[in-house]
Parts: sequence; structure tokens; C-alpha cells
Amino acid sequence: MKIIQFKFSGMYIIHKKSKVAYQQIGKGETLVLLHGFCEDSTLWANFTPVLSKKYHVITIDLSGFGKSDLLEEHSIDAMAEAVYAVLAHLSIKKSVLIGHSMGGYVGLCFAESHPELLSGLGLFHSHPFPDSEQKKADRKRVSEFIKQHGIAPFAGHFVFNLFAKKFVTKRRAFIDRLIHKTSMHHSDAIIAASNAMIKREDKSEVLTKLTCPVLFIVGKQDNAISIDYSLRQLSLPKMASVHIFEDVGHMGMYEIPEKTLEVVEEFMDFCFSFYMV
Ligand code: MLT
Repeated sequence: MKIIQFKFSGMYIIHKKSKVAYQQIGKGETLVLLHGFCEDSTLWANFTPVLSKKYHVITIDLSGFGKSDLLEEHSIDAMAEAVYAVLAHLSIKKSVLIGHSMGGYVGLCFAESHPELLSGLGLFHSHPFPDSEQKKADRKRVSEFIKQHGIAPFAGHFVFNLFAKKFVTKRRAFIDRLIHKTSMHHSDAIIAASNAMIKREDKSEVLTKLTCPVLFIVGKQDNAISIDYSLRQLSLPKMASVHIFEDVGHMGMYEIPEKTLEVVEEFMDFCFSFYMV
């Protein structure tokens, strides 16, 4: 595995011929943060300066997003193996891994193949269930639309849907910036990620078997993940920290940043003190 340093913007490894970009900051116990669909690791830009005062924070660009190449073999499992490759490269023996939405799907695959490396798993607006037939059809329709019309006309609708209505009204300029950013992703990455999500299998058993604590952050106004899916998973783990927020959609890290940051900090402290007992 080769390591190359970007001038200002972090590092990358070459994994299975593809570049996997990551950033690391801070010292202490390790926290790995994974972004979701149509995002990149800058999703965590408000979290890392605070969390890195206490922890070693690693953010990773998943396949085709941010500064990472699209992996040749494309699946949620393959993304989890790319995450593993970064952690192996950095000699990380234990970490808490928190994934937003699709990043949570990746986290679950990582937890399935490398449970011994986890001190905690966080599902930040995410869940272990496979796509319904309706969801698969919707994803295929979106991919076809993007192939024909590009990302720009998709980005607006996609971003609006991520937030609770109140937030969209109050933070219109921010939403517009996010739409612009979303429209800059590669269509190949979006289509590959959609196909990977279509193909993913049920990971409920991963949650049932995990011996480390699990964190759930749920937004009651989440349009991307149904409240039914969110609630159904809560009793699966042996030990869980559950946080359900009333006026929040799919983007708690933007919608209620102070609260969700506090939840993540508390979870980190709990996970590492739990292992010291
Ligand atoms: C995400 O934010 O990663 C997606 O909403 C996940 C999904 O579509 O299932």
C-alpha cells in the first residue's frame, strides 16, 4: 500500500488500485466518521475541530466521493474494506465508528467483518434493513434520470428532501450552497452508490450480535429513512444509546449541530470508559 500526502487536504492510500482519501486530526482514542450518499467527509467539518481536542478523528471519503476514486468493485462491503484498509494502514486497533446514513450501512458491514476493531458503532440517521422493492425502484429511476439529465436537476430535490421543512425555510442560503456542492459530485459515483445500496443485505443480525455499545440518532422528520425503520432497530443491540429528535430530518449534524455533537461526545466517553471497567 502506497501513501501519498496531499499539499493541504489530507492523505490517501492506494487500495485495490484506487485512491482512498482520508483526513486525521487530534490525539487520543480514535473516532472514525463516515459520510452518507452524495456527501463527502466535509460533512463533518463542524464536528472535527471540536472532537479533535479530545480524540483522534479520522474522516474518510467513500468510493467516488470527495477525493476518493470510484472503487473497481462497487458494493457497500467493498467500501467497508476500503475503510478497513485505511485503519490498517494507520495501525488502528480499536475505534468508535459513526456513519451517517449510507455511511452507517458501511459501518454495519465493517462491524460484521471486523467486530473486534470496534469500541462502539454509531448509526446517525441510518439502519440495518435492506431496501424495500419500492425503494429499489425509486433508486433505479433516479439513476436513469441522472444518466439522462445530469446531477444538477436532481440535486435541488435531493437536498430539500434531507431537511425538516422549518430548517429549509430558515437556512435557505445554506441549502443553496449545499445544492451547489451536491451537483459537483460525479454521476458515476452516485449511480454506483445507488446500485450498492440496492444490493445490500439485511444486517440486523450484526446489531444483535455486536458486543460494543451502539448509538442511534433518529430524526422524526427524516424523509430519507422511514421512522418505522428507525424505530424497529432500536431494541436489536445488547446495549444502545438512543436519541430521537422531534423537528429534525436526515441531517442532524446541520440541523441541531450542538445537540448531536454533544451526543457523539457522550457516546465516545461512554464507549471508552465502558472498556476500562
Ligand atoms: C444517505 O443519506 O446516505 C441516503 O439517504 C441513504 C439511503 O438512501 O438509503
